Amino acid sequence: MTTTSEDRLANSTNEASLARSFARSEEIEAAIAQDASPFRMLSGARPTGSLHLGHYLGVLKNWARLQDAGVDSWFLIADYQVITDRDGVGTLRQRVLDMIADYIASGIDPDRSTIFTHSAVPALNQLMLPFLSLVTESELHRNPTVKAELDATDGRAMSGLLLTYPVHQAADILFCKANIVPVGQDQLPHIEQTRLIAQRFDRRYGRADTDRPVFRRPDALLSEAPDILGTDGEKMSKSRGNTIELRMNADETAKMLRKAKTDADRVITFDPVNRPEVSNLLLIASIATEQTPEAIADQIGDKGAGALKTLATEAVNEMLAPVRAKRAELVADEAYLLEVLHAGNAAANAEADATLDEVRSAMQMNY
Ligand code: TRP
Repeated sequence: MTTTSEDRLANSTNEASLARSFARSEEIEAAIAQDASPFRMLSGARPTGSLHLGHYLGVLKNWARLQDAGVDSWFLIADYQVITDRDGVGTLRQRVLDMIADYIASGIDPDRSTIFTHSAVPALNQLMLPFLSLVTESELHRNPTVKAELDATDGRAMSGLLLTYPVHQAADILFCKANIVPVGQDQLPHIEQTRLIAQRFDRRYGRADTDRPVFRRPDALLSEAPDILGTDGEKMSKSRGNTIELRMNADETAKMLRKAKTDADRVITFDPVNRPEVSNLLLIASIATEQTPEAIADQIGDKGAGALKTLATEAVNEMLAPVRAKRAELVADEAYLLEVLHAGNAAANAEADATLDEVRSAMQMNY
């Protein structure tokens, strides 16, 4: 593929806006450290499979940290998004319950945080209708994340829901007036779309530049998550069979790590560029033991990949032991998981109903 000047311009614009998003995230983190009370966060994930070490280190620990810092925390299980790029829903109900168990076992406290499924919140979904009138078709077609998801479906046609799910995601964020959205970089186009929708709604219905805008303008909150790879040195993902899942036990974890890809050099060194697989195991062990990867490499010296795998296995199993114990307790108690979800859904419905009332008033539909 050739690089046109247009591509170069787009790339440099993306880099500049990414740098701005990181800078903004740092400002927000500093403000949270001072006083978390002005902040409400909403984040979420699709219940498409078991959560793994990458999710735990990159996402869940960060959510728990923000919750513990005093941010009002809302966690969405995006069950409707499961059908954006696939036909069936799989064992959806079980996955949702497992996900709630994963969240709580990883430190999300249902007494302080709200966990909910968006399919259970009618008023949230109703916001999608006015929001759809505020976006253009070409804008939707330009969304790079939607394009990437379509490309990943092997020639599947674009569905109406795939094309418009960023608008649905805007409803996820705006219904509860969240002002921070912890997400990965791939979600930035959706946050930008959400800000535009909030702005356009208030402008169209005469609330912009007044002291009573209906919506807040949310910011993405990016974090410098460690880049953990799967046991084959590729991106960690369930479909590749290279993940260490929270649901696995210590033996299954040992088995996964024993077959991890390494290289032939017996002297273990931390060199992510030239030795990505060995360095990934060092990185995992380093996070789990809170030592530097270099220190662990020195410790192993010329004892080879086998010793590295043993060390990484013990470190991961020790780190995850309390999470797994809690998780096992939770999955054995479906009634409790449902209770958490029902309470979360009730809280989400109360917020969504109030927001929809404001939207109806702004739109002169308050009969
Ligand atoms: N699209 C997100 C993902 O695939 C999940 C999601 C749905 C989300 N709604 C959201 C994330 C709102 C943040 C805010 O991971």
